[in-house]
Amino acid sequence: MSRPLAIIGNVNVDIIVGDYPPTLHPGTESMVAHGDVRPAGCVGNTALAWTALGTPFQVAANTGNDMFGDWLRSIFRTHSGAWPRESCATTFSVGIAHPDSERTFLTTHGHIEKLSLDEVRRALDFEALSGGIALLVGGFLMDRLSADYPGLFDLLEQHRIEVALDTGWPITGWTPAIRAQCLGWVAHTHHLLMNEVELLSLFEVPEVEDAMMAAVRMMPKGAHVIAKRGPLGASGLRGGSMIHVPAPVVKAVDTIGAGDVFNAGYLAAIARGESFDAAIAAGVATASRAISTHPREYVAPPVQKQSLRGR
Ligand SMILES: Nc1ncnc2c1ncn2[C@@H]1O[C@H](COP(=O)(O)OP(=O)(O)OP(=O)(O)O)[C@@H](O)[C@H]1O
Ligand SMILES: [Mg+2]
Repeated sequence: MSRPLAIIGNVNVDIIVGDYPPTLHPGTESMVAHGDVRPAGCVGNTALAWTALGTPFQVAANTGNDMFGDWLRSIFRTHSGAWPRESCATTFSVGIAHPDSERTFLTTHGHIEKLSLDEVRRALDFEALSGGIALLVGGFLMDRLSADYPGLFDLLEQHRIEVALDTGWPITGWTPAIRAQCLGWVAHTHHLLMNEVELLSLFEVPEVEDAMMAAVRMMPKGAHVIAKRGPLGASGLRGGSMIHVPAPVVKAVDTIGAGDVFNAGYLAAIARGESFDAAIAAGVATASRAISTHPREYVAPPVQKQSLRGR
């Protein structure tokens, strides 16, 4: 039997347009070649991947009380029944794609900063999650909930639920106050899922391996640290052993939410009881597949057995 999984954090709408026109002046209008409206945010990206992988999970999230909120609820209808509807508009991000595949995001405040610990408590069946893992995402975008992370850690611990944490990049940058807050979260985390630059910034060291070792020293016994490294793949540290899993060489068509899809593949494998190494490999394979397929696919097709005839 698989260990139960949950995700707690931000779901929103992404409106992606591109490519960015060479000139953009106030008071003018430009046509763009591509546009896409999609469910997103860390919760949205991970939930789509877990659903495609056939992994069962619970979600604590919220929406605003508008058309976008209804749309998100209908897309995640099997999970959204207990999500609160806040008295405000639903958060959306406009992502402007640049020709070099970088993007600029402009995000409205909206509902995500209103999610509270009480709402999370009502949205999840903690008894059913006992012995499992809860992934906390979007903390820097959710001031109300992150102020209550200490209470959330207590609640999870009481029910023997391990914490997985993906902090993302703080909007305000890595100020001393943000770093101190984040280190407090890391101390409660069993699976730390950050990208390389975030780890370097949080621990203020030049090498990612040093940041990973600094992290594991302050985490509970037996904790796992993962550094997501884009086209280089991912590294993992548990106890004293460091491993590295390279990413396959693929043509990236859409890297939005790559880290969230990695988290989905990694935690699904951990929940199935696979080894740490195999789980990192699953995270890399799932994410690299997703960012190189359109429409997105999460499961790599099985490797064709080569025919022996004619060799
Ligand atoms: N160009 C790429 N080629 C192959 N795989 C990639 C590429 N970019 C990302 N990936 C895959 O996605 C995983 C996660 O990506 P990345 O390290 O960029 O996470 P992240 O910075 O947390 O992403 P996000 O921008 O979503 O927060 C990588 O470990 C890798 O498997
Ligand atoms: Mg990330």
